[in-house]
Amino acid sequence: MDEKKDNVYILAIESSCDDTSAAVMRGDTVLSNVTASQAVHEQYGGVVPELASRAHELNIVPVVDAALKRAGVEKEQLSAIAFTRGPGLMGSLLVGVSFAKGLAASLGIPMVEVNHLQGHIMAHFIKEDGVEHKAPEYPFLCLMVSGGNSQIVKVDGYDKMEIVGQTIDDAAGEAMDKCAKVMGLGYPGGPIIDRLAREGNPKAYAFSKPHIPGLDYSFSGLKTSFLYTLRKLVADEPDYIENHINDLAASFEATVVDILMDKLYKATKQLKIKRVALSGGVSANTALRQAFHDYARRYGWEIFIPKFGFTTDNAAMIGIVGYHKFLEGDFCAMDMPAFSRTII
Ligand code: KG4
Repeated sequence: MDEKKDNVYILAIESSCDDTSAAVMRGDTVLSNVTASQAVHEQYGGVVPELASRAHELNIVPVVDAALKRAGVEKEQLSAIAFTRGPGLMGSLLVGVSFAKGLAASLGIPMVEVNHLQGHIMAHFIKEDGVEHKAPEYPFLCLMVSGGNSQIVKVDGYDKMEIVGQTIDDAAGEAMDKCAKVMGLGYPGGPIIDRLAREGNPKAYAFSKPHIPGLDYSFSGLKTSFLYTLRKLVADEPDYIENHINDLAASFEATVVDILMDKLYKATKQLKIKRVALSGGVSANTALRQAFHDYARRYGWEIFIPKFGFTTDNAAMIGIVGYHKFLEGDFCAMDMPAFSRTII
């Protein structure tokens, strides 16, 4: 046990979209990871930025309080506060960033700014007391798939990441959510499609796949193909969607997974890296996880799939990056602004 590292306590705050989350880390071990999700957006079929900021305002104090209590850590024990600086919704980010600044100033401790996407990838390094854990060795490739991003990232270190391919239009999660909306399903649509697809035939329909050069992705063509197919079918049979919902979900999901895996496979060949990790909200998807296992068996990949609790937005993933930056003395100034869009 490294006593110096084990005495580092970091409070991490994540508020980039519609989840208010706080975590307490002891070194690279998570002691608590508390998240308040915002049901208010369901009725609108997507996140409403203004409502998200207001909900963060309501949630941030109780969530941070609960994280400290659950961890059994007093705020006076904290070594630093890590926070998501971006990318994300500006109003949402500002709540977390301002709270982090206020608390850090009042406690006289340093602040560490964290890129949200870096957090998703580094979630693979979070340890838990009493739980066996294997993190990927560097270098590895990470398929980062969420509601706002779809990227293949080459990871050489916690601070050495290179995007080798990314979507030129919609993200994979966004495509799932939009197609779910077209079928009259709730929000977010990804988990609903996942559930319905388990009872459906993934080969019932053939939707068009993009022909994008290199390692980049595109999902907007698939969305259009799905929409046109549905329109034709519903014109002939008004109840078509209800009667074939499982097959539609399964075929759409299978197409998204094929698109993701084809480029990822290409990346492993091009970069000669067979260590492959999965990250981001869409990594909760059953078919995508299964595809990872299939490719591992077929091509000898060493794969890393995160625990469910670390796939969607959570503060522990911000805390693990914060911890590594803390060890390097990589702190940020009090006037550090949030940012809404960037690359790693
Ligand atoms: O990473 P995340 O929580 O938020 C950001 O976008 O940063 O990802 C949310 C996305 C949503 O599009 C949601 O529909 C998708 O992840 N998602 C899923 C599943 N669970 C969440 N997509 C497919 N299958 C799932 N089981």
